[in-house]
Amino acid sequence: MSIAINNMYLYGAGGHSKVITDILNSLGITVIGMFDDSPPMARFKAMEIRDGIRLLGEGFPALDAPLIISVGNNARRAELASLIDATYGTAIHGTAIISDKATIDVGTVVLHGAIVQAGTKIGAHVLINTAASIDHDNTIGDYAHISPHATLCGHVQVGEGTHIGAGAIVIPSIRIGRWCTIGAGAVVIEDIPDFATAVGNPARVIKLRQDLDIVNFPIEPAARHSISGSLLNSNLNTPRL
Ligand SMILES: CC(C)(COP(=O)(O)OP(=O)(O)OC[C@H]1O[C@@H](n2cnc3c(N)ncnc32)[C@H](O)[C@@H]1OP(=O)(O)O)[C@@H](O)C(=O)NCCC(=O)NCCS
Repeated sequence: MSIAINNMYLYGAGGHSKVITDILNSLGITVIGMFDDSPPMARFKAMEIRDGIRLLGEGFPALDAPLIISVGNNARRAELASLIDATYGTAIHGTAIISDKATIDVGTVVLHGAIVQAGTKIGAHVLINTAASIDHDNTIGDYAHISPHATLCGHVQVGEGTHIGAGAIVIPSIRIGRWCTIGAGAVVIEDIPDFATAVGNPARVIKLRQDLDIVNFPIEPAARHSISGSLLNSNLNTPRL
């Protein structure tokens, strides 16, 4: 079944929203409204930007089209997703190659040239960046970010909220914990514990993040039931494996 989604809203009016708008426009989807915590500071000037934080306090309005949280910071995206019970869409660029046997949850964005192979499960509100390669049977937790040109081999597990840096390589069957940071260019050959920052080749843990209050807010997405409009749209544009 294919449901045509013509319009979407974005929460976050910074640089990341420009990339997502570009993807949605390429899929024939119009961004019809934007929210931001600081509208006067918002860098996306193309349209009126509504004060999302204030609206959260008042009760976020029911929207007539799906929403994507276009905020690059993983913890911030998690916080917003736990608060806003909207219908979430996805944005998957037409040059991304997504296996029919991969699943992608709501709110997730896949940028140009990324590859997601069979058996991989990608969580909600994840960012798969430009030309990232995610091989078969990976599990990517909610709110993770896989940076440009990172390579995850088969059967890799990436925990909730974890950031894999640009060009990092993770060999097969590695488990990377929750809310980790893997440095740019790292080569991960051993499991990484929760909250760790690991860098280098081979990757070594250099510290554990201290801002553990990031796990104190409810981080279950408020809505998983949402339709993935642009994913369905992207069926028209995405080459199949
Ligand atoms: C890993 C990272 C988060 C560390 O940042 P940080 O917490 O500010 O740490 P520092 O810069 O203080 O570095 C700490 C040590 O790790 C080293 N280091 C940092 N990043 C490194 C990397 N990517 N590879 C190898 N060593 C690295 C530093 O040289 C420093 O070593 P020293 O203690 O011997 O001087 C950051 O360097 C990084 O690689 N971020 C990924 C960015 C990215 O890919 N963004 C994609 C955006 S789309």
